[in-house]
Amino acid sequence: MPLSQTGRVEFANIGALLTMDGPDGRRPLQSASVVVENGRVTQVTGTAGPAPPSPANPYPPAPTITHPGADDVYVDCRRALVTPGLVDPHTHLLYGGNRSGEMALKLAGVPYLDILASGGGILATVSMTREAGDEELVEAGLTRLDAMLRMGTTTVEVKSGYGLSTEQELRMLRLIAELDRRSPVTVVPTLLGAHATPADHRDDPAGYVEEIVERMIPAVSAEGLAHFCDVFCEPEVFPVNQSRRILEAAARHGLARKVHADEIAVEGDISGAELAAEVSAVSADHLRATPDEGLERMAQAGVTPVLLPATSLCLADHRYAPARRMIDDFGLPVALATDCNPGTSPTESLQLVMAVAALELRLTPEEILAGVTVNAARAIDCSETAGCIATGRCCDLVVWQAYDPAMLPYRFGTNQAALVVKNGRMFQP
Ligand code: NIG
Ligand code: FE
Repeated sequence: MPLSQTGRVEFANIGALLTMDGPDGRRPLQSASVVVENGRVTQVTGTAGPAPPSPANPYPPAPTITHPGADDVYVDCRRALVTPGLVDPHTHLLYGGNRSGEMALKLAGVPYLDILASGGGILATVSMTREAGDEELVEAGLTRLDAMLRMGTTTVEVKSGYGLSTEQELRMLRLIAELDRRSPVTVVPTLLGAHATPADHRDDPAGYVEEIVERMIPAVSAEGLAHFCDVFCEPEVFPVNQSRRILEAAARHGLARKVHADEIAVEGDISGAELAAEVSAVSADHLRATPDEGLERMAQAGVTPVLLPATSLCLADHRYAPARRMIDDFGLPVALATDCNPGTSPTESLQLVMAVAALELRLTPEEILAGVTVNAARAIDCSETAGCIATGRCCDLVVWQAYDPAMLPYRFGTNQAALVVKNGRMFQP
């Protein structure tokens, strides 16, 4: 799949270039080019102005790659659309087995948290992950990362959370580091020890919180294995008071915070979103049941919302986060992610997420593209390295089988990436 790695690459004849670099970067440049040397962008050119009318055939020919000099590559983009490589800021893509068998239960009306309470759901994946060999797990993870790269994703956040003991969570995070070493995709690691209470603590959930706070977080931090610490903050899983203890411990040990907030329900006075604001979390994710006060507090505290519409689709409960309100009433920089996991979103496709974001969250193509690039990078503390095309940065970009950015959320179910570039290396889907 990798085509070449070389000194100088010129991506020329770009019909529409969205660099996403600053406010101007959200308007396409025409007749543009990007020059890359040793993996870094050294030049971006193009002219601003109205886009030409769409041709009758809406699909540009595949980019052509030629070698004008020994160490030089020239890519004729055939007037196609080029964007930054996509950023997926919320996944659980390292796990053993699968849960396709739960589909029938879900369709029969059994709620997600009832499946978990009966020992299935996340806990079923914990058993399959603990039983799997290291290499099997890594290979499955690499297969998912490879699928993502082919669909245009070049940076991915990956959570642990199917180990649920200090030893098993450390193992997961070491394997996540291995994914980063072996995949071309950049992997940002997150500790999610608080994903569920493991079966052996069923009658003592407070004891498991104690283990996370006293042993797990210090050990993960000492080994430098995670950038973030996340919590499944949910009345029936880790209620706000337990989540707060975990996130405060994370802060003391130098881990940035994230919260699975208000996915199913909010109980009492304080929502997961408000807790995220209180602990200065970088992001709060899901946010389907969040009241307006929570959104307000997030806006004040600069917490980025990460929405996971493919999860709503897969839960089949027709409940979507209030994305329009987040943008129109609270000015929040909405990011989008797959949530790739075996239970509620077994997909690697941010392109599918883009389509559902249009159809169900009612976001515009511009908002969606920001959601999978700059806003997604912000949600994982990668604003300086991912989500935009700019001189001096590593070159992550996608040449699309489209002229017009509005095609990306519109045409769904087909991989529209024609060429994916990661650190200047080219990959053909
Ligand atoms: O983000 N809600 C919690 N965690 C995942 C699902 C994990 C699973 O079911 O295995 C989520 O939806
Ligand atoms: Fe999740």
